[in-house]
Amino acid sequence: MKVLAADGISPKGIELLQKEFEVDVKDKISAEELLEIIPAYDALMVRSASKVTAEVIERAKNLKIIGRAGVGVDNIDIPAATAKGIIVINSPGGNTIAATEHTMAMMLAMSRNIPVANETMQKGEWNRKKYVGVELRGKTLGVIGMGRIGAGVAKRAMAFDMKVIAYDPYINEERAKALGVTIGTFEDVITQSDFITVHMPLTPDTKGMIGMEQMKKMKQGVRLVNCARGGIIVEEDLAEAVKQGIVAGAAIDVYTSEPVGADHPLVGVPGIVLTPHLGASTVEAQIGVSLDVSEGILAALKGEPVATA
Ligand code: MLT
Repeated sequence: MKVLAADGISPKGIELLQKEFEVDVKDKISAEELLEIIPAYDALMVRSASKVTAEVIERAKNLKIIGRAGVGVDNIDIPAATAKGIIVINSPGGNTIAATEHTMAMMLAMSRNIPVANETMQKGEWNRKKYVGVELRGKTLGVIGMGRIGAGVAKRAMAFDMKVIAYDPYINEERAKALGVTIGTFEDVITQSDFITVHMPLTPDTKGMIGMEQMKKMKQGVRLVNCARGGIIVEEDLAEAVKQGIVAGAAIDVYTSEPVGADHPLVGVPGIVLTPHLGASTVEAQIGVSLDVSEGILAALKGEPVATA
């Protein structure tokens, strides 16, 4: 059996697979190369860079399983894989803490102007008056999506004395009570929050769920965070809303199309803090997701049952 590990998967999981199978590691692989070599493999491991399209799946003559070393499976054509009997697995919890902590880091960095203060200080400037920030204490955080990451962010925000209002179509009163958050409608969250953070997968329902229309309804001075998926917040609208002062600031880790270059609408807008999809990029999370999917691939290739994504 042959396994292809693409996109820079942590060696921990690869070592596990190498005990049983032949593993080819290709940290950077183009769409063309993936199409060309995929027929040789029984299993494929990816992060978010490789797009496992219907065409890739069509060409995959021996493929039995696709492992996504992360949570989001939006880069994999699951209906096409299912139609061909190919199992798709992911790591639902492996990078929860990393994404949760990155969200907090982004919220704090944005509130206290840390990136721009650092950038100017590195150039020899001393700007104490220019970079006056805002506190989290006493503010309302709107959490859109109360899965593992949303709940983790809510818990940490409460440790900062924030009040949390959450919107999630699947949360019930009992769980909200246990988490110490108030449940609201989407409208409640967008109109009552000082900070809003999204933690939903990208689906036809969530794509573009926050655009100019919603931003205009938000509180004066609202700040937005997206460490979930690009496209949930409309990028052009966000750039415009920050420029016009409708939104006071934003912290964004994910983009509609990645990687992003200097021509992206969010690049260069004062008040917007950007990171290049680093939510899951911790040593611990990368080991966790790599081990999760490798164990799944190992089991599936031995004919044992596995939990699908
Ligand atoms: C995920 O879906 O798990 C994250 O976006 C992280 C990643 O792509 O590696």
